[in-house]
Amino acid sequence: MIEGWYIRPFERKDLREVVKVNKSCLPENYPDQFFMGLYHHAPKAFLVGIDDDTVAGYIMCRIERGVSSFGRLPVKKGHIVSIAVKHTHRRKGIGYALIKKGMEAMTEYGVSEYFLEVRKSNEAAIGVYEKLGFSIKRVLKGYYRDGEDAYLMARKGIDEEPIEE
Ligand SMILES: CC(C)(COP(=O)(O)OP(=O)(O)OC[C@H]1O[C@@H](n2cnc3c(N)ncnc32)[C@H](O)[C@@H]1OP(=O)(O)O)[C@@H](O)C(=O)NCCC(=O)NCCS
Repeated sequence: MIEGWYIRPFERKDLREVVKVNKSCLPENYPDQFFMGLYHHAPKAFLVGIDDDTVAGYIMCRIERGVSSFGRLPVKKGHIVSIAVKHTHRRKGIGYALIKKGMEAMTEYGVSEYFLEVRKSNEAAIGVYEKLGFSIKRVLKGYYRDGEDAYLMARKGIDEEPIEE
């Protein structure tokens, strides 16, 4: 246990709680099959943060192939699809730990870099991603359903560029 909370892999029994956290934290919500699909796709990279014996946060990821954000070659990349931590459990390091462990897990699937989309206005998330070495690569105009732009942020693999603690 670290300060009373810890990170562990998602289990099927966590689904209800994860869906609740997602709904309470983000406007991007999904049907159950979407969560389970990502779990079956990359189980090691679907993690939950447990605090006070409840699911306080989650991260889920997808392993994709595409052009590198750091060059022109095709690579295997880790996509952080969704992450959230309940309001009442924020600023304890849970979000940071979920992303760090999520990156470690994606590395086990052979990815050489990671990327994500984040609302331009989402200072908290941009703050935690920058702390973990992500940088803004481009703006995705009107990416969200309500018309807000996203930043595409990316980071090289932790094998090549270890996380600075
Ligand atoms: C983004 C989010 C997951 C961060 O979770 P968290 O557990 O509170 O983050 P941490 O405690 O690990 O914070 C790590 C660092 O990120 C930065 N950070 C976190 N919240 C911040 C905020 N509100 N403002 C500015 N920087 C912030 C800080 O550098 C922080 O380190 P510090 O506490 O030592 O200053 C959480 O705010 C959240 O769930 N937001 C709503 C969902 C969301 O936006 N998801 C991302 C979609 S792309």
